[in-house]
Amino acid sequence: MGVRAQTQLQEDKENGVSTIPLLTSFKMGRFNLSHRIVMPPLTRQRSYNNIPQPHAALYYSQRTTKGGLLITEATVVSESARGYKDTPGIWSKEQVEAWKPIVDAVHAKGGIFFCQIWHVGRASTYEYQPNGQAPVSSTSKQLMPQVLANATEPAKFSPPRRLRTDEIPLVINDFRVAARNAIEAGFDGVEIHGAHGYLLDQFMKDHINDRTDHYGGSLENRCRFALELVEAVANEIGADRVGIRLSPFATYLDSGDSNPTALGVYMAESLNKYGIVYCHMVEPRMKTAEESLECAETLLPMRKAFKGAFIVAGGYDKEDGNKAISENRTDLVAFGRLFLANPDLPRRFELDAPLTKHNRSTYCLSDPVVGYTDYSFLENTA
Ligand SMILES: Cc1cc2nc3c(=O)[nH]c(=O)nc-3n(C[C@H](O)[C@H](O)[C@H](O)COP(=O)(O)O)c2cc1C
Repeated sequence: MGVRAQTQLQEDKENGVSTIPLLTSFKMGRFNLSHRIVMPPLTRQRSYNNIPQPHAALYYSQRTTKGGLLITEATVVSESARGYKDTPGIWSKEQVEAWKPIVDAVHAKGGIFFCQIWHVGRASTYEYQPNGQAPVSSTSKQLMPQVLANATEPAKFSPPRRLRTDEIPLVINDFRVAARNAIEAGFDGVEIHGAHGYLLDQFMKDHINDRTDHYGGSLENRCRFALELVEAVANEIGADRVGIRLSPFATYLDSGDSNPTALGVYMAESLNKYGIVYCHMVEPRMKTAEESLECAETLLPMRKAFKGAFIVAGGYDKEDGNKAISENRTDLVAFGRLFLANPDLPRRFELDAPLTKHNRSTYCLSDPVVGYTDYSFLENTA
């Protein structure tokens, strides 16, 4: 067991608190987390016309525990950042106002709430773009049709337009403004979405980025966009309110890289410069957003390289989450589908209670209740 986890366990034992590693407290920068079970971003597509809806207040508050960390579903930073129907935005006044009661509901129960800020890049179509323009990316290579996490039929994408070098600061500015808006809405911080083949990943990964300017080519050049963006957001709202999500190993949306370990370590080391509060990494076993495959690669080199709090995600259950913490391979563990289907997940872990299975066919229904706020609590399942 790692020294940090060990000390915490000892302290908790003395205070008579549960000693399940996932249920020990953790200080994540300025935030005192009462346990290590994180709700990661889960796109649910119920924010009609990109406006967060009242039903999201119930959904997130159902999953809130005092001192627990929750991250919102991916939230678009601008009109051109969109690629999916009814995902929430955070660029307009109306959206900021609509987020406020949702954030308040989470805070009322003592949760710590980060907003995942997102640009899909080339994973979009003309119909989602202002004036039917082409989506933007690091490249002009079109994404081939894909079966997305929310569907069974392959989705089609429009040919993207390669961002000009002089346009890159404009996109970074959209993230900066979105982060400012998130703080205005009451969020405790933002998670920059640098995972799963979306815009930042389209710059980082060498299977996609074919640029010849100083945002393409070498590893350092491919990571420049993400790091400049982190710096701008950290300068805007304070590094102690900024996290990032990365998936160097994932190949979702054709986002492969020839050397994912080098990419992950370079990012982890470079992020230290900005002192951001956490790095949230998706396990190598998650090749897509949902499919878990055994593999020999690990996140340990990134865990060792990054100085802030580390969150792992992807295919975890209670047992291997506990193990990852007790072996000091991470500080916090995110549980996606388990949280989606078990609003009282930390309590179920504490009591070793049975878990409800998620229903994939209702992930992204438009319905404000079905598959969303109607998963049962422990009391109701007994
Ligand atoms: C329905 C659904 C929606 C998701 N939406 C997002 C998202 O908006 N942003 C993101 O970074 N990951 C997203 N993911 C990935 C999850 O955050 C998580 O990494 C993934 O489910 C693997 O973890 P798990 O095995 O604990 O479910 C999504 C996954 C699912 C199943």
